[in-house]
Parts: sequence; C-alpha cells; structure tokens
Amino acid sequence: MKTFRSSWFPVLLGIVIVVLFLNKILFSDTDTEKTLSANDSKKNGWVAPDINLVPFTPEGELIHYGRDLIVNTGKYFGPNGIVAQITNGMNCQNCHVEAGTRTFGNSFAAVASTYPRYRERSGRVESIEFRINDCMQRSLNGKQIDSLSKEMRAMVAFFKWIGKDVPKGVKPAGSGIVEIPYLNRAADPEKGKVVFETICFACHGNNGEGQLYPNSSEYRYPPLWGPKSYNTGAGLYRLSRFAAFVKYNMPFTPIHVEPQLTDEQAWDVAAFVNSQPRDVFHAPNDWPNISAKPPDHPYGPFTDGFSEHQHKYGPFQPIVEVKEKQKRNFFQMQTIFLSAFEKRFLNFYPAKI
Ligand code: HEC
Ligand code: HEC
Repeated sequence: MKTFRSSWFPVLLGIVIVVLFLNKILFSDTDTEKTLSANDSKKNGWVAPDINLVPFTPEGELIHYGRDLIVNTGKYFGPNGIVAQITNGMNCQNCHVEAGTRTFGNSFAAVASTYPRYRERSGRVESIEFRINDCMQRSLNGKQIDSLSKEMRAMVAFFKWIGKDVPKGVKPAGSGIVEIPYLNRAADPEKGKVVFETICFACHGNNGEGQLYPNSSEYRYPPLWGPKSYNTGAGLYRLSRFAAFVKYNMPFTPIHVEPQLTDEQAWDVAAFVNSQPRDVFHAPNDWPNISAKPPDHPYGPFTDGFSEHQHKYGPFQPIVEVKEKQKRNFFQMQTIFLSAFEKRFLNFYPAKI
C-alpha cells in the first residue's frame, strides 16, 4: 500500500506538469492581438503631435524622413523606387490614414507604447522593426528592409515621436483597427459585390485595380485585389480587419466623418474583396500555437472543428462560443487534477516523512 501511495506522487506531479504545459500551448488567450500590458480603459481621444513643430535638427530630420516614407512609400520602395524596388507600390498611409495620425484610421498611436510586445502570430516578442517588416512583406507584398538602414531608423523615429505622449503600456481609444460587432450570419460575397459596384468601384476601379496618378507609378486610389494589392498573409485579408477599417474609413473623405456604411455592408464588401484573386503568402511559421488563431483566420489546422470556409466568412460567433467552451472544460479538468494533486500531496506526503 505504501509503495502504491508513494508512486502516486510522481504520477500526479507528471500529470500536473502535462496539464499546465497543455494549458500553455493550447489555451493561451485566444484574443490574440492583445498587448501584454495594454490599458484599454483610457477613453479620451488621442491627438497626434504636430509635425510642423519638429525642428530640422538631425534628429528631427529623421522623423520628417520617417513620415515621408510612410506617406510616399511607393516613391521610395515601389516598382520605380528611389531607394529599392521591393514593394507593390502602395503607401503605408493607404491603410494607416494621414500617416497613421487619424483616430479610427488604423492609427499608430499605440506603437511606441506597446512594442516590443508578444504576438501570437509569430509566437515571439516583436520589435517595432519586426512589425514594420511584417507590413512590408504582407501588406506591401514586398521584401524586408535592413533593421539598421536609415529608412528603418527613420520610420522607428517617427513612431516613437508620434507616440511620445502616450504612457508605456497604454493603448489610446481609437488606435489601430477599431473592431465592429460580428454579424449573426456568414458575410456574403454576392451582397458585397453590390456594395462594391455601387460605392467602391468609382475610386478603386471596376476590377479593384486602383488608379495611378497620370504619368506616375504612384497610386491615387490603391488597388484592392490582384498582384499589386496586399497578399493573403496581410492583416486586411482577415475579414474582421477589412470590415472594421472600411466601416470607419471608406468611402474615403479628406477629414474624418461619421461612418457611412452599415456593419452589414462592411462585412459583405470585405467578403467580396477578399474572395477575389491576390498573391499567396507562404507563412508556415505563423500561429505556432494553433488554438490562438483568431476566429477569422482563414487557414487551418484549427482546434475547434470548424471549416476553413466558416473561419473565412463566418458566422464567427459559434466559433467564439466553442473556443470559450473548450477553454472552460479544460479549466474544469485542470481544477479537478490540481485538487487531486493537492489532496495527495497534503494528505499522504507528510505522512511518509
Ligand atoms: C494594405 C494595408 C496596409 C498597408 C499598406 C500597411 N499596413 Fe501596417 N497594418 C495593417 C493592418 C491591417 C494592421 C493591423 C492592425 C490591427 O490589427 O489592429 C497593421 C499594423 C501595423 C503596425 C502595428 C500597429 C499596432 O498598433 O500594433 C505597424 C507598426 C505597421 N502596420 C506599420 C506599417 C508600415 C511602416 C507600413 C508601410 C511600410 C504599413 N504598415 C503598411 C495594414 C497595412
Ligand atoms: C472617394 C474615393 C473612394 C471610395 C468611393 C472608396 N475608397 Fe477606399 N480608398 C480611397 C483612398 C484615396 C484610399 C487611400 C487612402 C490614403 O492613402 O490616404 C483608400 C484605401 C482603401 C483601402 C486600404 C488600401 C487598399 O487598397 O487595400 C481599402 C481596403 C479600401 N479603400 C476599401 C474601400 C471599399 C471597400 C470601398 C467601398 C465601400 C471604398 N474603399 C471606397 C478612396 C476611396
């Protein structure tokens, strides 16, 4: 009997270690893009500092250059780029409105305050440089730039300057992509086609190809699909990112106005645009923790049993519910194991000494 009891201790200890390990790899927070220490409670709007107040000292010039790289990225890195020819010709600003200073416009308000940070997509702590190169390779369908290059240092200097008044760890309201509620049905590409053909085509072109300025390789209206657009590894390829960006920013207006699309129009047009052809980005190392994939990540494998189709178009709520249930069940199991371990440990272990 004694040997039986003492053999329990290592077995239970083993189980506890396995449970804690599985817990870590399977059920880390599924709201993946959260920062480690972000404080979302700051409700006041954020106002970007004024670029005209940045002096033309060597340090100031780097900030000005960083801003110019974000506004006119195509000029520097596009097909006729003066620094390198390594992107699809789009500008960072096409998706980070007014150089990332516009609240609700995928702003850069929280970059300096929340990086370096852990991200589930890469499964590592990312620097600002790493995150910029993510958008270079995916959103601009291009190549990385050297993290020590003048261009990289300039963009990082711009981000640090733009976020200089935001305390560390704080994510000002309206920064990044501001989410909109899920629909209770799948987003519908057919309905989205109608939205596209009524509202979007006028600027983005009948085939979503965008429109260059006359005699220029720079876009007046950026492309929405095709080889010159963002690729399948980009943030906008996820329906929730696209729908939320478009809801608050399209049709484009020079100053921020109240949203002009309904949530349904935003989700449906997202489904239509993201069902059109675009370059495929191979990212075998993305989402090392499968269960941390967001509900609208369209590529398997998944731990929730839903199809790639549902992960692409929705409805997303049932996926969220199953993930939450799995998490609850797992925590219950964990509690049972832990209390069994505690009983064995407290009741039997001292008795043996
Ligand atoms: C096709 C659209 C698109 C383009 C072009 C683009 N980005 Fe992004 N970027 C995104 C999306 C979408 C996100 C994710 C936002 C989110 O999920 O909150 C993002 C996120 C970022 C972030 C992280 C922001 C944060 O608060 O976590 C940085 C930094 C960034 N982009 C820099 C750049 C830079 C620099 C360029 C140009 C070299 C660029 N982006 C071009 C779409 C784009
Ligand atoms: C009045 C012209 C106009 C209309 C209409 C318009 N857009 Fe845009 N769109 C723009 C401009 C201009 C930009 C780039 C903004 C910038 O660089 O400051 C843009 C950027 C975008 C982007 C991010 C960059 C990219 O190309 O991926 C998306 C996505 C987008 N628009 C989708 C839409 C959708 C969907 C509609 C219809 C609901 C729409 N737009 C209607 C002018 C327009």
